[in-house]
Amino acid sequence: MRASHLEDFYQFLRFPSVSTDDSYSARLTECGHWLVEKLTRIGLTAKLHPTPGHPVVWAHNEQKPGRRTVLIYGHYDVQPPDPLELWDSPPFEPVLHDGYVFARGATDNKGQILSHILGIEEQMEANGDLPVNVHLVVEGEEEIGSGNLGNFLAQNRDALKCDVVMVSDTGMIARGVPTISYGLRGVAALELKVTGPKMDLHSGIYGGAVMNPLAAMSRLLASLHDTNGRITIAGFYDDVLPLQEWEREMWSKLPVNPEAELLKETGVPELFGERGFSTLERIWARPTAEINGMGGGYQGQGTKTVIGREAMAKLTFRLVPNQDGEKITALAEEHLRKNCPPSIRLEMTPGHSGPWYLTDPYSQFGCAAQRAMRDAFARDAVLIREGGSIPIVSQFRDILGVETLLLGLALPDCRAHSPNENFPLENLDAGIRINKAVLKELAA
Ligand code: BES
Ligand code: MN
Repeated sequence: MRASHLEDFYQFLRFPSVSTDDSYSARLTECGHWLVEKLTRIGLTAKLHPTPGHPVVWAHNEQKPGRRTVLIYGHYDVQPPDPLELWDSPPFEPVLHDGYVFARGATDNKGQILSHILGIEEQMEANGDLPVNVHLVVEGEEEIGSGNLGNFLAQNRDALKCDVVMVSDTGMIARGVPTISYGLRGVAALELKVTGPKMDLHSGIYGGAVMNPLAAMSRLLASLHDTNGRITIAGFYDDVLPLQEWEREMWSKLPVNPEAELLKETGVPELFGERGFSTLERIWARPTAEINGMGGGYQGQGTKTVIGREAMAKLTFRLVPNQDGEKITALAEEHLRKNCPPSIRLEMTPGHSGPWYLTDPYSQFGCAAQRAMRDAFARDAVLIREGGSIPIVSQFRDILGVETLLLGLALPDCRAHSPNENFPLENLDAGIRINKAVLKELAA
C-alpha cells in the first residue's frame, strides 16, 4: 500500500459528510470539492454539480469512440456517527489498528469508492489512459435516498450514456471471498405521530380518563407483526416473488455458516425472524417492517407521573421483488389507520424510498464481472443478494437503460451505520485490483 493512498483515505474520512443533518451541509460540499481536486490531479476531467441538496461529483476520462463505457458510482455522504460514546476513537479522526482503518464512512462508502479512484490513478499513471471510457459519479445523498440523483441522470442522460454501471457498496460474505450481489432489497420509510391531550397531563388527575399516546403507539407498533415474525398488514406479501430453486441451492453451498456469523456479529442471545424461512432468505429475499426509532414521554432521571401529549415512531419497510414501495406504504397506512383507536389522533408522513433490484449474474457483463473477480482474488466469486438498499441502482436501469454490477468490499464485521465502523487496507488493495481487472475485462 502506497503511503499516499493511505493519506488520501485519511483526508477523505476526515470530512464529517453526514447528509441527513443540515448543519453539516458545508462539510459535504468541502468533501465534494476535495474529490474534484483529487480526480483532476489524477488526470480526469472533474466537476462538482450543484443539486437542490448536496452536490454530485462527476468525472470522466477522454471518451474515445469504439470503446466500452463504464459508469462507476459511489457516495461520499455517511450516516450520523452517534451514539458517539460507543466509539473507541472519534468517528472523523481515522486511526489504523491491525490493518483496519476505523472511522465513520470507512466502509460505507469512502473506502470502497476510493479504491476505484486509486485503481484509476495507478492505471492513468502507468498508461496515460484507461482501457475503456469511464464516468465516475460520486453523490452526497445516498444515505438519505438519492432524491436528487435521478434528475441529474435524466438531465445528463446523453453525456452519461454507458454500457454498464459498477458499484462497490455491498458486502463480501467473508474475508478474501470475492462476492457479487445480483439483488438488493428496496426500502420505504413512514413516520408516525400520535397526539392525544393538548398538553402533558398529571397522570393521577387524568390517568384512566384519557388514552395515553404512548400506549396507543405501542399497540399500533405491536400490531405490525404476529408472534411468528410475520407482518400482519393485509396484502403485504401479495406481490412477493418466491426464492428461485437455483438460488436456494446456491446459497446453501456458500462457504459460511450464516447463523453462527450473525450470532457473533450482533451479540443477540438468539436469532429471530419470519417462521418458515432460512436466515439468508429472511435477509435477502423476504420483506420486513422495522421500527428504527420511537419516542415520547419522560426520558430523564427518576420518575415523572405524566401522560405525554404525543408519541412518535420512525418505520422503514425493506422491499423485495415484486413489491411496490408506494403500494406498501399505502397498505401500511391503511392498516395503522384501521388499528388506531378514535380516542387518539394519528398522523403519518411517508419518507424516502428506493426500489429493490434484481439482475442476471450470468448476463454478458455479469460473466465479465465473475471473470474479473476471479482474476482479482485468485478464487471463484460467490453470487448473493443483499439485504441493504442502494436506491439509485434501479434508476440506472430505468433512466440510463443499463444493468449494475455490485462488486462488494464490505466485510461482515465492518460495522457500517454502527459505532467503530472500519475497513481493512487489504480491501482498499482488493478494490484497486477489482477496478483494474473489470476495466480490462470490459475492454476485451
Ligand atoms: N451500502 C449500503 C447498502 C448496503 C448495505 C448494501 C449492506 C448491501 C449490504 C448503503 O450505503 C445504505 O446503507 N443504504 C441505505 C439506503 C437508505 C437510507 C435509503 C440502506 O440500505 O439503509
Ligand atoms: Mn449506508
